[in-house]
Amino acid sequence: MTRNAIQWLNPPRLPEDHYVDSTVYTDRQVFEEERERIFARTWKFVCHESELPDPGNFRSVEHVGIPLVVVRGPDGTVRTFFNSCSHRGAKLVTEPRGTSKNFTCFFHLWSYDTQGRCIEITREEGYEQCGLKKDDCGLRSVRTAVRLGMVFINLDDDAEDFDSYVGNSLEDLLEPMGAQPMEVFHYHRVLMRANWKQWHETNMELYHEWGHVVNRTTSVAVPGYHDRKWKIHPNGHGSLEPLKVQYGNYKGWDQRDNLTLAGLAPGEFRVVDLFPNTTVIVRATTIRIDTSIPIAPGLTLLEQRGLGIKGESAQDRSHRQQHHNQFWGPFGRNLAEDVLFVEAVEAANRQGASRFGIIARHEQLMSQDDEIMRAYYRTWGAHMGRRASDPLGIRQQQAGAIARRA
Ligand code: FES
Ligand SMILES: [Fe+2]
Repeated sequence: MTRNAIQWLNPPRLPEDHYVDSTVYTDRQVFEEERERIFARTWKFVCHESELPDPGNFRSVEHVGIPLVVVRGPDGTVRTFFNSCSHRGAKLVTEPRGTSKNFTCFFHLWSYDTQGRCIEITREEGYEQCGLKKDDCGLRSVRTAVRLGMVFINLDDDAEDFDSYVGNSLEDLLEPMGAQPMEVFHYHRVLMRANWKQWHETNMELYHEWGHVVNRTTSVAVPGYHDRKWKIHPNGHGSLEPLKVQYGNYKGWDQRDNLTLAGLAPGEFRVVDLFPNTTVIVRATTIRIDTSIPIAPGLTLLEQRGLGIKGESAQDRSHRQQHHNQFWGPFGRNLAEDVLFVEAVEAANRQGASRFGIIARHEQLMSQDDEIMRAYYRTWGAHMGRRASDPLGIRQQQAGAIARRA
């Protein structure tokens, strides 16, 4: 039966955590609060350490709108700083990446070393009278943790440390990412008209594998697909029991029996979703790391990295890249389709043509159970002090008014 306007505006007759209100993706105030309450306080993936192989290598990034620089020091440690000069605040590093022994600000030429210390103040004697010293002018450091080659940062000095934040969530990655040094061989960015959470949902919601022809053929159709279970970890993270994917089921593709990464059976698939917006996907021979940069409620910059084994032969690398690109390259059969999915949803959300998203599947935590998303939104709600089912508190207010009248 179709629904008239009133019926359609009513929330689904489901428990509250079984649906999300579409304003969770579109509201400007919600978006701004997410920056403050989630992104400024939780651990965020920024890059892979292979992108900073040598001392002096740096990358400038932006997080929550704040310019940062991530740099490997002479002692080999990767550190992160606010990318802002201590003098008058000018952005210090202007290149997206590079190598430098020191950073010199182009405004009045103050200099800093790669450990964030101020090492040079132009005509320093001018500060003698007031007593300002270089030691008072170091860069603002940002907490940085490197695990399994992945570099994470946290703007909040009081947040729990990285290891307790992720708990056991990285367990399934220990061998494939930790047994041999990996490096980024593929990097691309996609600017999409979608909310950042929608993208993370594509990495949690396996029900949509029906939408990918290649996933239908190589995964959903494989015996055992529906038996593996989600592991729901604290703090909004999740991972999925492994499955052997049958890549050879797709016409023209090889079975991926060679080049298997450490600790995996041939063809094995693993996925780890980290709150709020990072996912690591292992597909037997290659790994993808997703993270996103929220720009506006309906605009997100996806950053996607592909990983192979450092130092492997050109032939192996080329074969591994082929596997990566079949699925996840810009012309691959998976990632580009996910962009179409999320943009299709956002196109309806944008003008209020969609009111609620249903996340109500129960399959004893098996592949296509939505509990992973319900757990994610419970964590989101705890950070935000809002409910994903009613983020603006409108229905709660209405219910209160009705109760007062009664
Ligand atoms: S603002 Fe950087 S030296 Fe003045
Ligand atoms: Fe997908």
